[in-house]
Amino acid sequence: ELSWELADHPRLPKGKTVAVVILDGWGEADPDQFNCIHVADTPAMDSLKKGAPEHWRLLRAHGTAVGLPTDDDMGNSEVGHNALGAGQIYAQGAKLVDLALASGKIYEGEGFKYIKECFNKGTLHLIGLLSDGGVHSRLDQLLLLLKGANQHGARRIRVHILTDGRDVLDGTSIHFVEILENELLKLREKGVDAQIASGGGRMYVTMDRYENDWGVVKRGWDAQVLGEAPFKFQSAIEGIKKLREDPKANDQFLPPFVIVDDNSKPIGPIVDGDAVVTFNFRADRMVMIAKALEYENFNKFDRVRFPKIRYAGMLQYDGELKLPSHYLVSPPEIKRTSGEYLVHNGIKIFACSETVKFGHVTFFWNGNRSGYFDSSMEEYVEIPSDTGISFNVQPEMKALEIAERARDAILSGNFHHVRINLANGDMVGHTGDIKATVIACRAADEAVKIIIDAIEQVKGIYVVTADHGNAEDMVKRDKSGQPLVDKDGNVQILTSHTLHPVPLAIGGPGLAPGVRFRRDLQSAGLANVAATVINLHGFEAPDEYEPTLIEVGGN
Ligand code: 3PG
Ligand code: CO
Repeated sequence: ELSWELADHPRLPKGKTVAVVILDGWGEADPDQFNCIHVADTPAMDSLKKGAPEHWRLLRAHGTAVGLPTDDDMGNSEVGHNALGAGQIYAQGAKLVDLALASGKIYEGEGFKYIKECFNKGTLHLIGLLSDGGVHSRLDQLLLLLKGANQHGARRIRVHILTDGRDVLDGTSIHFVEILENELLKLREKGVDAQIASGGGRMYVTMDRYENDWGVVKRGWDAQVLGEAPFKFQSAIEGIKKLREDPKANDQFLPPFVIVDDNSKPIGPIVDGDAVVTFNFRADRMVMIAKALEYENFNKFDRVRFPKIRYAGMLQYDGELKLPSHYLVSPPEIKRTSGEYLVHNGIKIFACSETVKFGHVTFFWNGNRSGYFDSSMEEYVEIPSDTGISFNVQPEMKALEIAERARDAILSGNFHHVRINLANGDMVGHTGDIKATVIACRAADEAVKIIIDAIEQVKGIYVVTADHGNAEDMVKRDKSGQPLVDKDGNVQILTSHTLHPVPLAIGGPGLAPGVRFRRDLQSAGLANVAATVINLHGFEAPDEYEPTLIEVGGN
C-alpha cells in the first residue's frame, strides 16, 4: 500500500486555517441581463476578482475536465465535487455506462446476470430520469438497454419515467416520451410486451436526495410498486399533456400518475418475481429509492408491500454502504481523496452545507462514500433545508446559517480545514426564476464575506471556487450567443447548468508571501484544486494528483 504520509512543502508553512468555499452553480460568463451574478450586487466576489491573475483565475468545470464523455457535457455537482475532493480525473458514470453498452460487457456482468434470472416469469422494470441531460441519466443509454435486455431475454418490460425540465428545457418531456414510445412500439411489433407504466416529475417523485423529504420517494413507490397515484391515464403522452394544461405545471414537479388498461387497472405494478433496474448512473438522487427497494428493514415510510424482486442499480450508488448490492456497471473507483489524506496528516476537518447540498461537501467530496474517514478528526454539520417550497420563494436559503457555522468553526481554532457549499446560485438557478436568482447570488456573496472576515481574524487562508455554472446564464442561446425566443416571443429560460468555467480565488493573511497562480496551467480544471489546497496546508501534494495551481515567487 502507498503511504498516506505527505511530505512537507519546502516553502509553505503548516498550521494555517484554510477555508474552502464552493459556490454551487456559479460560473463566469459575459455580463448581460440574463447573467444573474452580474446583475446581483456581489461586492465580495467582485473584490476577489481584482486579484487576477495572481490570486484569481478561471477553471474548467465541464466535459472531459471532470471525466464526462465529451466537452459538450455541462458540468454538474457530482462530477465537480468528485474532482475537487479527489484531485484526480476519473471517467465518470456517464462514460462508464457508454463503454459498457458499446462493448456489450454490461450484459456479461454480475448485475445483469442476477436480474436476468427473472426474465422467464417476471417483468423487467426500468425506473429513471427521462432526458438527454447527461447529468443523472441519458435517454440513448435507456434505449440501448431496452433493446439489449430484450435481446438477452426480457419479454415483458415496464418503464417508470421521471420527467426532467431541470437538466434540460422545461416542456421537453413530451419530446423524450415520444422517442421512448417509438422504441417501445418497435419492441411490441416484435412481440415484446413493453410499455410505460408510470411517471411523475423528478423533483416531486422519487428523486429526492440526502433524505430531504422521504415523501418524494414514497410518491414514487406508490406509483411504481403499488400502481397507485392520484392520476390515471391510458398513455404517458396524453397524461403529461393533460397535467401540463395547468399553467403552474412544469416538468420538474409533475404529479405522479400511473398508466391503466381499458379496465382502469394499472399495467405495471412491481410484484414478486420481477426484476428492477434504476437506470440513473448518478448516485445522490438514487440512494433513497435504492434503500426502499433493497432494505428488508426499512421505516422511512410504509411500503405497504415489499415485493420479492431482484434489484440492480445502473451503478453502485454508495461505496461505503455497498448500495445497491447488485449493479450493472462498476462505478468509478475514486480513491485517495484529499479529505482522507488530510486526516491522515493531522488536519482536522469541518464540513457544512444545508441538506440539499450536504452530501456534496461530504459524500461526493470523499468519492461517493458516506460517513467519516476518522470521526475523531472530522465534523460534518448539516443545516436543514427548507422543505415543501420551491427555492425561488426563499432564495437566501440557508446561506447565512452556513456562513455563521463556518465562521464559528474557523474562530474556534478546532479545525484547520473548513469546507462549505453555498447552494443558492444553483438551486435557485434551477427554478428558472431570474429575479429570485439575483437575490440568491447576493445572499451567497454575503456568506462569502462572513467567511473571509473570519479568515482575516485567524490569519488564515481562503479558497473560493464553484463546482459548475448555472446562475451566470439563465437563457438558452443560439450558436452566436443570442437568446432564443419561442413562438410567442418569450426568451427560453435555461434551468440547467452551463458549459462555462468557474472562478478560483485564493487569499487571506495566512497566504505566504510570493504565493501566486502559475501561468503554465491555462486549461486547468476543478481537479487541480485539491493539490493546491494540500499545498496551502503546508504539504506536498500526492504524486497521483493533478498538478497544483500555485507557485511561490521570488525564487
Ligand atoms: C439536480 O440533481 O438538482 C440537477 O440535476 C443537477 O444539479 P447539481 O449537479 O447542481 O446537484
Ligand atoms: Co445544479
